[in-house]
Amino acid sequence: MAKVEVETRGDVAVLKLSNSPVNALAHGVREGLQAALAAANADPAIMAIVVTGEGRAFSAGADITEFRSGMKPPGLGQVIDGMEASGKPVVAALNGLALGGGLEVALGCHYRVASPAVSQLGLPEVKIGILPGAGGTQRLPRIIGVEAALDMIVSGNPITAAAAARAGLVDRIAEGNVVDAAVTFARELIVSGTGPRRASDKTIDAAAVPAGLFDKKRASLGRHPSGPLAPKNCIAAVEASVVLPFRDGLKRERELFAELAGSPYARALQYAFFAERQAANIPDIGAEVKPREVKSVGIVGAGTMGTGIALAFLNAGLPVRIVETAQAALDKGVARIRETIESNVARGRISADEGKLRSANLTPSLEFKALSASDLIIEAVFEKLALKTQIFGKLDAIAKPGAVLATNTSTLDVDTIAAATKRPDDVVGMNFFSPANVMRLLEVVRGKATSKDALATAMAVAKRIGKVGVVSGVCFGFIGNRMLEAYLEEVQAMLLEGATPSEVDGALEAWGLAMGPNAMMDMAGLDVGHHIRQEHQISDERRRLYRFTDAIVGMGRHGQKTGGGYYKYGGDRKRQADPEMEAMIRAEAAAQGVAQRRPEAEEIVERCLLRLINEGAQILDEGIAMRASDIDTIYLTGYGFPAWRGGPMWQAENIIGLKVAADKIRGYEKVHGARWTVAPLLDRLAASGGKLADAGAEQKPA
Ligand code: 3HC
Repeated sequence: MAKVEVETRGDVAVLKLSNSPVNALAHGVREGLQAALAAANADPAIMAIVVTGEGRAFSAGADITEFRSGMKPPGLGQVIDGMEASGKPVVAALNGLALGGGLEVALGCHYRVASPAVSQLGLPEVKIGILPGAGGTQRLPRIIGVEAALDMIVSGNPITAAAAARAGLVDRIAEGNVVDAAVTFARELIVSGTGPRRASDKTIDAAAVPAGLFDKKRASLGRHPSGPLAPKNCIAAVEASVVLPFRDGLKRERELFAELAGSPYARALQYAFFAERQAANIPDIGAEVKPREVKSVGIVGAGTMGTGIALAFLNAGLPVRIVETAQAALDKGVARIRETIESNVARGRISADEGKLRSANLTPSLEFKALSASDLIIEAVFEKLALKTQIFGKLDAIAKPGAVLATNTSTLDVDTIAAATKRPDDVVGMNFFSPANVMRLLEVVRGKATSKDALATAMAVAKRIGKVGVVSGVCFGFIGNRMLEAYLEEVQAMLLEGATPSEVDGALEAWGLAMGPNAMMDMAGLDVGHHIRQEHQISDERRRLYRFTDAIVGMGRHGQKTGGGYYKYGGDRKRQADPEMEAMIRAEAAAQGVAQRRPEAEEIVERCLLRLINEGAQILDEGIAMRASDIDTIYLTGYGFPAWRGGPMWQAENIIGLKVAADKIRGYEKVHGARWTVAPLLDRLAASGGKLADAGAEQKPA
């Protein structure tokens, strides 16, 4: 239960924030802290107060779930202001992470002692679309300086205890137990007669703030991952700390906070935070299903995907065996892995010892048998079904009983691959995104026969290597790429209608996408999609829409790697509009009799978004996705969809409206035909007033 525990150590009261797992500052904690502070101040035997946290955290800040329901008094700001006003010195004992309101509590304390192991002290509010609203924007600049505070608040990135000590945020790094050290610190204050040291008493010397600091920061924001509002208000709040007295600054902070709190961007970012965590819950897999132990990993294939996957595991400290069929390919892959590790050492991202350990954890081999002891084997060869089934037959013969066998496929039928073994229950899909050591998304594909514990193992492994695992059922392209197909098809249609690649990409990037679809296809390689279209049956309509793309692939224009695709690329790899390409598209449009009309930016965004939404709704209805928020998580973590837009399904439900979306889709169907057939789920929900957020939760992938 959310509360504050009190322990009296002679003349020092130790108040412990206690709300497992991360001591979020829920109503009970705020009330408890306020009451415990009042009691300690009223007790003549108490001379100083220490505030700490239970377990692994000091506090992760305000309870984000309360933002939706509304916060009951006392507000956090009020509790912290009261604490700072305490006549007895208050010392924070930072035992673990202190984020957001958690750090604001520490800033309201008069002194701070930290455990050296604390790796996260920060104000990440901007990442959930708000700003530190309990005095953080006014106290932090007074404690560590305006420039450093501005950086921390606008980026939202945390610092370590050691860095905090250097910045003056932490007064002492504890040797041994941090609460003991804080009590000792408090006793030193008592003995020396040193009273409270309040951040609010400090004035900022405006003349010492670098000229133009705030304007420069505003100008540097560019495409901030938190969207257009929160970063600006963060800057304005810190600026207020310089130009206004403390109390007025606090008032300004609260006004700026209120502007953000109800904004769609904040709602979207907070939804995204919980959606990502929700993805780990699989309705029919409870705590009784134990993931299998994975102590070693085998990888088949040392190409781009295999090496990226190997790195992801090596980075997480797991030993990896990697197998190739030819020595040259194996050597090339191993060299690529070692180079990446060495460059991480050279850039100071990891220590030389850590680099050595990671390299030593890699065992290359030309023999399949080398994988016989691996707990998890991931096949990462070329995307060809016949090749993959053949490999799974071989793996079946050599893998130890109980090993999880995973296929890294982005389109192929996991059930067919599993059927090549006598143990389809051990087979699961693990669709990594390139570069596999960098991208956060891991689509975990649940086949018809996949056992619960094999699936749970893949999900646990995802978490262990720092990825966001999202479960998908089996269908062509699974969740992410199936939706991508629909979206890219629409892009092809708009190019034929007369929009240039730059216009399409520009419209979507201005809306917030990390990269427009044409630039993305050029980067991934146009030959990849071409190959998939050759391998699979696709509709005549899709073949028609892709005719010019297939033609340019035939001409050797494969995208960035060949110096040209939808764009042309100079030595700096920057995209440039290519009039020759645009003329070719126009010629193809003329040959197909497609009238030219340059769709506006708004239409470009709408058509792309609606195709994603419609396909997503269909995927949800088929039970391929367990819930709408999983679809959004996939788009946010794997496809460069801006988190402050929530994801396609969130947009449908919260911004567009399901009825409007269904009507618009029907409108486009009238113009463009069957590819715009509305997903029945959208119609059903529009008619019943139901929610995407409630659809699918009870469904399980096949
Ligand atoms: N409020 C409510 N729940 C929270 C929470 C918070 N601030 N922080 C974490 N949780 C929950 C998570 O949802 C999760 O719940 P679940 O187990 O039911 O899924 C559980 O705590 C554990 O969290 P994680 O799975 O994320 O655990 P990790 O160890 O991977 O990460 C963390 C811990 C770094 C604290 C991460 O959870 C995090 O970044 N939390 C958000 C921190 C944040 O944004 N704080 C600012 C809040 S806003 C604020 O303080 C406003 C103030 O200025 C007025």
